[in-house]
Amino acid sequence: MTDTDSLRAEALARIADAETLDALEQHRVAYLGKKGSISGLMKTLGGMSPEERSKAGALFNAVRDEVAAALATRKTALEGAALEARLASETLDLSLPSPDAPTGSVHPVSQVMDELAEIFADLGFAVATGPEIEDDWHNFTALNMPESHPARAMHDTFYFPDMSEAQPASNSEAVGQQEFRSMLLRTHTSPVQIRSMLKEGAPLRIIAPGRVYRSDSDATHTPMFHQIEGLVIDKGIHLGHLKWTLETFLKAFFERDDIVLRLRPSYFPFTEPSVEVDVGYSMEKGRRVVGGSGDDEGHAWMEVLGSGMVNRRVIEFGGLDPDEWQGFAFGTGVDRLAMLKYGMDDLRAFFDGDLRWMKHYGFAALDVPTLSGGVGVGA
Ligand code: DAH
Repeated sequence: MTDTDSLRAEALARIADAETLDALEQHRVAYLGKKGSISGLMKTLGGMSPEERSKAGALFNAVRDEVAAALATRKTALEGAALEARLASETLDLSLPSPDAPTGSVHPVSQVMDELAEIFADLGFAVATGPEIEDDWHNFTALNMPESHPARAMHDTFYFPDMSEAQPASNSEAVGQQEFRSMLLRTHTSPVQIRSMLKEGAPLRIIAPGRVYRSDSDATHTPMFHQIEGLVIDKGIHLGHLKWTLETFLKAFFERDDIVLRLRPSYFPFTEPSVEVDVGYSMEKGRRVVGGSGDDEGHAWMEVLGSGMVNRRVIEFGGLDPDEWQGFAFGTGVDRLAMLKYGMDDLRAFFDGDLRWMKHYGFAALDVPTLSGGVGVGA
């Protein structure tokens, strides 16, 4: 009995002290293996009397079961510890912040063009485009500025070297047989009016945003800038349609109902009559804020658009019959609209490519303008 007791005590102590799974396995073999000491005890049962055997058998079985259970418990503990150790050495902290990935932003000019497209799409206007390298027929002649016209001189045009010897005009629609077209960088988006009429016919409702070029550079002029052109051609169009459209557009763009327009008689070769459009504004914290009548206390007028009823000659150059079709047109600077709405004060910064400026004034790529959500940002 005492032998069995000490064997049991020794086995349980060794199992409890086993530091590794290998050591534990050795203990298992030493006690419960075929030649193990507890298995040896079992073999002694054969030489006992039936009485002794039933007593000793019960005891030996109990010891064997107890040792087997201790082995299993210790095995689970050692396996758990091994797993913990592995986990501790192989950690991957998923809660760490992600590395500073460079994030892009949308340039204010692109943002404002998207806003304008959204506003005019809602009014049924399609977006049209034309080439930045233009010929002087589309840029000037077809817009009622013949070669001798003084307005041509006012545009500070970048001309390409004269190619007239090498390249006769390819578009013969409205060009005399002998006429050659010199090439230039378009000075305004108005030639898209002509291209759209010739291509699409009437009725027509388009806006044409894009780059334009003039040889001019100071704080308020850059050699390249952006304009947006609007053109509506239909039957029975009059100044009232123009005024309503511009008012609706400016209210949506500036997201204010108190926009007041002043239409001033003016002159553009391509419109007759021509009107310049002013909006009322006031100064707040050194910034122009659009809203209210320019005649109100603390307010003034500022020109924002050129516009008018499309000149009959321009409609003819567009291949349409001016007795049948009328229309209105307008044009304005996108950069200037962006400055007015978002508060930048130097036009040149738009084209410097300074990342700090872009971080400050740029827009997140997901700030997509929608009329329902407000076309502006943070609306
Ligand atoms: N093309 C003119 C410019 O560059 C702007 C302009 C004025 C466009 C009147 C128009 C218009 O369509 O009707 O200054």
